[in-house]
Amino acid sequence: MEALLKAGLPVASSCNGDGVCAKCKVMIIEGNENLSPPNETEAFLQEKNSLPNTTRISCQVQILGPIKVDTTYW
Ligand code: FES
Repeated sequence: MEALLKAGLPVASSCNGDGVCAKCKVMIIEGNENLSPPNETEAFLQEKNSLPNTTRISCQVQILGPIKVDTTYW
């Protein structure tokens, strides 16, 4: 989420990155291997919202290398 905002891209959120709303989810198009594994908060939100493992909660995930993402509202 921080990287997206720094790049000037809008990120949906109603919890300001506290790991509650899941609105900041992004679809990973490329580079899934360059992301940290889901933490406990992200795993909970993925399960609660029935998200595939290629959809990540951007305020919780760490970027470790190049990735390409998309959202439904860009
Ligand atoms: S901004 Fe709410 S869960 Fe990420």
